[in-house]
Amino acid sequence: MYQLKNKRILLGVTGGVAAYKSAILLRALTRDGADVRVVMTLNACEFITPLTMQALSGRPVHIELLDAETESAMGHIDLARWADVVIVAPASANFIARLTNGFAEDLLSTLCLATNAPIMLAPAMNQQMWLNQATQDNILKLAARKIQIMGPDSGNQACGEIGPGRMLEPELIAKAVAESFSNGLLTGSRLLITAGPTREAIDPVRYITNRSSGRMGFALANAAVEAGADVTVICGPVSIEKPERVKLIEVQSANDMHHAVMQEIGINDIFISAAAVADYCLVKVADQKIKKSGEDLQLILKKNPDILAEVAALECAPFTVGFAAETENLEENAINKLQRKKLDMIAANQVGEELGFDKEENTLTVLWPSGIQQLELASKDKLARALIAVIAERYYEKNSNQAH
Ligand code: PMT
Repeated sequence: MYQLKNKRILLGVTGGVAAYKSAILLRALTRDGADVRVVMTLNACEFITPLTMQALSGRPVHIELLDAETESAMGHIDLARWADVVIVAPASANFIARLTNGFAEDLLSTLCLATNAPIMLAPAMNQQMWLNQATQDNILKLAARKIQIMGPDSGNQACGEIGPGRMLEPELIAKAVAESFSNGLLTGSRLLITAGPTREAIDPVRYITNRSSGRMGFALANAAVEAGADVTVICGPVSIEKPERVKLIEVQSANDMHHAVMQEIGINDIFISAAAVADYCLVKVADQKIKKSGEDLQLILKKNPDILAEVAALECAPFTVGFAAETENLEENAINKLQRKKLDMIAANQVGEELGFDKEENTLTVLWPSGIQQLELASKDKLARALIAVIAERYYEKNSNQAH
């Protein structure tokens, strides 16, 4: 049901009778959990009012390229970067021609040029226009650019003719969009992912923790589910929405997390340690609330188990991916952790006041013994999908090397 949860969809509507179906599509996409922003061409506004789309999406509708009001809320480049996928439904013959030729004369065509998200089109037009060689040539060119063409359907048309050119039914478009996120990269494999912070108790009311929100780990869990994996998530105390379609184990301290990981790890093929695990805990947790007394208070700490290093050292270790959260010398420190903990891969992120922890966006430098890949600034959801793709590639490479 909620197959599009956390997905950011930019729905473009162009001019045509089928524009009324875009309202039904919008309902289907939001029902399935997507966050949808609508962009309409001026011609689309002749067929369906922006107010309808605004009421259904709960967001202002974007129409003009140079509209100061909507640009100040979210500029067109931000909108292009925000989207996980761009759907144009209905896509008119005119819009298809403009997209083929790379015109940027209105907001929607500009967004399609500016985005690096996949684009999906649901063409809708008179059957002669669809069958016209110009349209067919355009469609072939767009398909060659990996733009997905959904439909069109064939049947009775609003103009009274019969033939191909009807917009695909909204439910089928919503299904195709959900399927486009499922890449099957890790079908059949089992992943264990840690996420969030740990809490190290001081006394019954106080603890030591860190700024991790759990976003990165949960985004990885969602991306792994999309990739077809069976996913278990072990997370520390977080306040964000938990991932669905995973086995979720909630823990408090690093020792709890260590225990849970060691119990679960046996059946897993891949381990991703995205949690910000406390390196130290109290030697002795006070039974009662510590009273204010002298000017100083000394807490004596002892080392926690290094969960990641322990998993990597197992005789039948899974493909082991660590994270490195660094405030300085990012690459050097990450390589050091990769080698010292004998990992298959490490994802390094710069952290600090405004970076990494508890942010919607991040950048990652991914390192493995023979390579490096930079994953540029993006939402953690997008970044997680890219990281899962890199992990899948290296995981299969390692397995095939071991098989030979
Ligand atoms: O949760 P968010 O707000 O989205 O923030 C994401 C993040 C910044 C927490 C995440 O991207 C990240 O960097 N996670 C790892 C944080 C961390 O603890 O890094 P580290 O460099 O201190 O540890 C290195 C690795 O060892 C990590 O994979 C960590 O999970 C693991 N570790 C550390 C200590 C310990 N006792 N056991 C461990 O397994």
